[in-house]
Amino acid sequence: MEIVLSGIRPTGDLHLGNYFGALRNFVKMQDDYKCNFFVADYHSLTTHPHPEDLRINVKKILSQYIASGLDPEKSTIYVQSDVPEVCELYMLMNMNAYIGELERTASFKEKARQNPDNVNAGLLTYAVLMACDILIQKADKVPVGKDQEQHLEMTCRFARRFNNIYGVEYFKEPKAFSFSKDLIKVPGLDGTGKMGKSTNNGIYLIDEDKDIRKKVMKAVTDSGPTEPNQAKPEVIQNLFTLMDLVSDRSTIEHFENAWNDCSIRYGDLKKQLAEDIIRTVAPIREHIKDIYNDDAYLERVAREGAEKARVQAAKTVKEVRQIIGFK
Ligand code: ADP
Ligand code: TRP
Repeated sequence: MEIVLSGIRPTGDLHLGNYFGALRNFVKMQDDYKCNFFVADYHSLTTHPHPEDLRINVKKILSQYIASGLDPEKSTIYVQSDVPEVCELYMLMNMNAYIGELERTASFKEKARQNPDNVNAGLLTYAVLMACDILIQKADKVPVGKDQEQHLEMTCRFARRFNNIYGVEYFKEPKAFSFSKDLIKVPGLDGTGKMGKSTNNGIYLIDEDKDIRKKVMKAVTDSGPTEPNQAKPEVIQNLFTLMDLVSDRSTIEHFENAWNDCSIRYGDLKKQLAEDIIRTVAPIREHIKDIYNDDAYLERVAREGAEKARVQAAKTVKEVRQIIGFK
């Protein structure tokens, strides 16, 4: 069975973009692949989170992963720092990663521009650590969004380079897992594009019904269509894109028709959209509440996940040490 792996940095609560863009697909993959899903807490240290915030955010992601349908019985769910073997591989792989290529990484350049006072070595070698997450588990497929594609290309380059230097066929090159037609961009409610944590335009999996209603009712719209069958401006298309994700066919058709014959009332559309979003979010939210405070359960999931992940991780590091010449 092919191995799938993905990680997410613990930087806050998960939103509908994370759910429809990533999690929902992960849930479906669990029956067809040997899946590894982990919380990339080492990676989050580049921004020096407060220890208590780090602890809470790891717990949040773990509980929100599970409540969204990732199943610890089917998949290996773990916290990166519970598998310290990756640190040794990271140190070893850093010897073959060149400053020039690391400095040219798009994510590095962007972060360095945003925070010129915190251009640390961990940020520079972010892609090396991510490559090690993948290579240490011998992953075949990595489901990634557009922003992570370059990191995956670098993973392949580091794998090839290691094989070349030591004259071995050891690391295999992982492939980006594309959801093709399922890969959607979930828009925000403020008309500025993608839903994201940093843009503060999101609906979160922990939002209460009344918060969801309030956010949707406040979504940006325009003054309405002026002639039949007009193309939709972006702010309106965004609402329809969300509807496509959460509403029934008949509801979508109803509002499409109303748009086309100019009888649409945005207030009605938003009310319906809010209820349909609630239908998706409410059961997940209630599940999150059940498990977030169950420390014993979360600790057990993390411990058992780490135990499983460490078997392959230790094997990889041992083999790499031998290839390098540590006997
Ligand atoms: P954020 O943009 O909120 O910081 P992350 O970068 O942590 O989110 O994203 C984690 C995962 O969720 C990625 O795989 C990304 O592809 C997916 N994702 C995040 N936002 C969206 C969105 N608006 N639409 C689709 N997928 C998204
Ligand atoms: N860099 C990824 C992000 O910012 C998170 C991540 C860390 C990851 N290690 C990974 C994703 C390994 C996939 C595979 O979203």
